Amino acid sequence: MSSDGRGAGANPVPVSTSGARGSVQPLPGPAPRPFGLPPDDFDRDPVASLARLRGEYGDVYAFGAGKVALARPEWARWVLAHTNRETLVDPPEPPRAVQRRGLVRDNVETWMATKRTAQWHRLGRDIAERTVPGIRLHLEQFLDRAEHAAIRMRDCERVLLDAAGAIFIRDLEGDLRAKMIRAAALLIPQGMSSIAPPAWLSLWTHRRIRANDAMIEALLAHVASRRASRNPDEPPSDLLDLLLDARDDDGPAFTDLDVAQTLSINLGNLYTVGGAGLAWLLAAHGAHDFARPETTSREDWARAVVKETLRAYPPVALTSRVLVEDREFGDYTVSADNSVFISPLLFHTDPRWWREDPSRFDPARWLADKVHEPHAYLPYGAGPRMCTGVHISNAVLETAADLLDGRTVTSRSGPIKPQWDAIARPRRFRVRVGRDESARHRVRP
Ligand code: HEM
Repeated sequence: MSSDGRGAGANPVPVSTSGARGSVQPLPGPAPRPFGLPPDDFDRDPVASLARLRGEYGDVYAFGAGKVALARPEWARWVLAHTNRETLVDPPEPPRAVQRRGLVRDNVETWMATKRTAQWHRLGRDIAERTVPGIRLHLEQFLDRAEHAAIRMRDCERVLLDAAGAIFIRDLEGDLRAKMIRAAALLIPQGMSSIAPPAWLSLWTHRRIRANDAMIEALLAHVASRRASRNPDEPPSDLLDLLLDARDDDGPAFTDLDVAQTLSINLGNLYTVGGAGLAWLLAAHGAHDFARPETTSREDWARAVVKETLRAYPPVALTSRVLVEDREFGDYTVSADNSVFISPLLFHTDPRWWREDPSRFDPARWLADKVHEPHAYLPYGAGPRMCTGVHISNAVLETAADLLDGRTVTSRSGPIKPQWDAIARPRRFRVRVGRDESARHRVRP
């Protein structure tokens, strides 16, 4: 391999080089398919497909019209760190033409302001301290129930909503909760298929939009009634209060619609991505044999188990950005308007960036000092569009990992494999949890 990781036998494909600069090298990559589609194994398992192509073409290659993969951590860091300026989020939302109300994420300035307000540390130690014991209680009951009935994907999603939803809206219940679940459940299966019908043709898109509209209307009513009854002398007790209290020079910083959409996006991610994280944690306990070293505290071990789970099974396994300007990566120039793809899972499993063999599931790797090269571990993304749920998610998952220390997890679904939608979730996920102090999660001398 050359210094930029290019493999031998690269097949030049002139899809995304800069014409303006004259003699730039064509990007390597597989021969183009009809309609510029990516290779046919991409829809089945996008990350395995990209790993195969990286072996053939190196660290930067084109794999379909306007699609370029980048496989070096420092490039991923640049792409993510420059989001909102030199790179733009690929739109995950329905196209503007079919949206009934503009989405807050389309307005980057407002979205970034709501993100700043939503930071976990702004929620205050008080809320965190009051919330974590509740989260623990919910998860404990959830795991106890799993002694009698198997846990499925939707159970993980719902316990997350019940345990941590109160951080966002303390009175999230009844009709509002049901509408949120319906909208979130319809969001995921949109998937990352490269063959999608146009939005105006897709019944699925219209169902999603209707479910989303119904939830936003319910949230709007809730936000309006909270705004009307909000006593400014009382400290904020959830994210909804924080967003209502935020002020700029002209008064309230956010409209009711901004607030409703910010809440819906956070709750949707909590339910879907957080639920997937919890399912992967359980699946990893069922599939791998590991034990806490005697000298390691429960707290440190829980943290290591969660880090290793998100390394080996990151729910957000692939993301992309659109380049605003031409940009050089190694020996190649990628033109503006191309989507550059970054796979946290590929970085997490590439032995070049890891001190210990990344093909092994080994939480103990995280007890050492220098575990990986900089920017090679990206479960929550990076830069201005990094996950806002990172602290909540870690609090929930570390609590769950601690509760699993001393329990056994059994899975009847065979080897652990991902199911690919917009996020990766364990395929045919179904586990049981039992209590067994002596068995697999023993302390290792
Ligand atoms: C295991 C759990 C989770 C993982 C692995 C995860 C991962 C990620 C990643 C990688 C991104 C960035 C995607 C990109 O750069 O294209 C992201 C964005 C986001 N996440 Fe999470 N997430 C998790 C849980 C949560 C939770 C619990 C919440 C809410 C409480 C949440 C809220 C968000 C939001 C709102 C964004 C969009 C940020 C933006 O566009 O500015 N996530 N998440």
